[in-house]
Amino acid sequence: MRLDYLTIFPDYLAPLQLSLPGKAVASGLLDVHVHDLRQWTHDRHRTVDDTPYGGGAGMVLKPEPFGEAFDDLFAGGGLEGATVVVTTPSGEPFTQELARELATRERLVFACGRYEGIDQRVLDHARTLIEVREVSIGDYVLNGGEVAALAITEAVVRLLPGFMGNAASLVEESHEGGLLEHPVYTKPASWRGHDVPPVLLSGDHGAIAAWRHEQAVRRTAERRPDLAHPSQVLDGVEVRLAQ
Ligand code: ADE
Repeated sequence: MRLDYLTIFPDYLAPLQLSLPGKAVASGLLDVHVHDLRQWTHDRHRTVDDTPYGGGAGMVLKPEPFGEAFDDLFAGGGLEGATVVVTTPSGEPFTQELARELATRERLVFACGRYEGIDQRVLDHARTLIEVREVSIGDYVLNGGEVAALAITEAVVRLLPGFMGNAASLVEESHEGGLLEHPVYTKPASWRGHDVPPVLLSGDHGAIAAWRHEQAVRRTAERRPDLAHPSQVLDGVEVRLAQ
């Protein structure tokens, strides 16, 4: 998968060279390109923003640098199987489902917003050529879209075949299957007066699976009633859930 990032703070994306994404880069699974948006400016001050039409606080990222950046990035083709991801607090929510969808793409181009956002025409124009997704990683406002792009990248690339050592751990974790993950324990069996639930030491795989499922349902109902499905049953009693 090829990953491009358009940003006015390329240093923010240095973590891409670390940890799991870094290993995937080294092994050739990922082809990562971070671009300084200012390379597509032509004035002495390398201006990327301007005041909003209609007034209001803050600055808006100008259309021309992004427009020229897309022209250059897609000059040699590569639009097929590519998606532009615009990180913005006003985007659609980023979910595990969207991560799975983006993991099927051959190329992702992240456009990282700053300030009050990107001139809308950048997105309107790009949409005439390519799929564009405006994506938010949560109901809070960051200083810019770089951290959001990193979060989305990590969630997507770990789903790529050959990325994770243990495919089973992908299936068992939170948000796969619509439930939060059950609590987990390791040795020692007793620690500071807290014991591992005895069922996990029983060797009874059926009982362990049932206990884990019950814990996952209970957690989801308590912490994320918006996620839990009304048909999920706990201890023979339907858990009361928000619709
Ligand atoms: N940029 C600023 N806040 C953001 C958020 N919550 N999600 C995505 N991009 C952002």
